[in-house]
Amino acid sequence: MRTLTVIGLGRLGRSVARLAAQSGGCRIAQLAGRSLPALEEARAFVGEGEPVALGGALRPADLYLLAVPDGAIAECAQRLADHVDLPAGAVAFHASGVGDAGLLAPLARRGLRVASLHPAYSFADPARAAAGFAGTLCALEGEAEACETLSAFAVDIGGRPFRLAEGGKPAYHAALSVASNYLVTLAAMAERLAAEGGVPEALLRPLLGNLMRQSLDNALALGPRAALTGPVSRGDAGTVARHLQAMRDPGLIEAYRAMGRQTMALAGERLDAEARRRLAALLG
Ligand SMILES: NC(=O)c1ccc[n+]([C@@H]2O[C@H](COP(=O)([O-])OP(=O)(O)OC[C@H]3O[C@@H](n4cnc5c(N)ncnc54)[C@H](OP(=O)(O)O)[C@@H]3O)[C@@H](O)[C@H]2O)c1
Repeated sequence: MRTLTVIGLGRLGRSVARLAAQSGGCRIAQLAGRSLPALEEARAFVGEGEPVALGGALRPADLYLLAVPDGAIAECAQRLADHVDLPAGAVAFHASGVGDAGLLAPLARRGLRVASLHPAYSFADPARAAAGFAGTLCALEGEAEACETLSAFAVDIGGRPFRLAEGGKPAYHAALSVASNYLVTLAAMAERLAAEGGVPEALLRPLLGNLMRQSLDNALALGPRAALTGPVSRGDAGTVARHLQAMRDPGLIEAYRAMGRQTMALAGERLDAEARRRLAALLG
């Protein structure tokens, strides 16, 4: 059975430790952090693991998860490499979405195998997060052997592991931001325009929500290209011109034009040369 030590018992650290403890395939060795009272609380939540102050000795384990904020991972790895005796051959990993295994370079120099495991999941509340985690996709990146070990670990805790290309973390994380954050921004832009057009406030979300859900369902079921409808995909430059005339905020116009250019590219051969020329004149 694999042993896991978790360093940093915040939202992700607690959730992953609890999932590992309950998995049957893993035992928690130690829970390491800066505040002993917080570690005692984490221990109660996880159900097992020895609380230990960061900087103190760590016992040998198979896996070390550095579950500290992204900006603290490199410094934490350096501190561990300088002051703590960790067994060569063990796997050290972090859970950042954008950072890669290189953040753990000081530990790699001490003979540990390093990787990152990013669950595409929100751990806002550890109890809820652990209860709903099953089936979560977990992106793996780093040393091949470490990724293999972490792939088995991800399956143990109920995740669905997959490998990223080397150097792929920033683009992978940008994709998640576009898909989740920018979708929300688009909803806000659409609400603003609809309100300017006189749609009553109480109807903004029903009106846009139905359309957004339908479009998202279509894009996920058919693929984005086949799901695309609307004036840009039809080459209707007159409608696009009227949309632009209705907008006053330069930031909104810029965003509309940028999305319009991406939409033209997505429409591809559905647009003939003349439609493409007329749209490009409007969208830049
Ligand atoms: N939360 C999510 O939904 C989520 C999802 C996917 C990936 N992740 C990744 O998981 C990692 C942890 O995120 P989180 O949301 O769990 O953060 P968090 O809730 O803020 O917890 C961070 C933990 O790290 C400790 N810590 C902070 N700075 C430290 C430092 N300089 N040295 C040592 N320990 C330090 C904190 O301890 P104190 O209590 O002493 O401050 C806390 O226990 C990040 O890499 C994040 O990108 C998070």
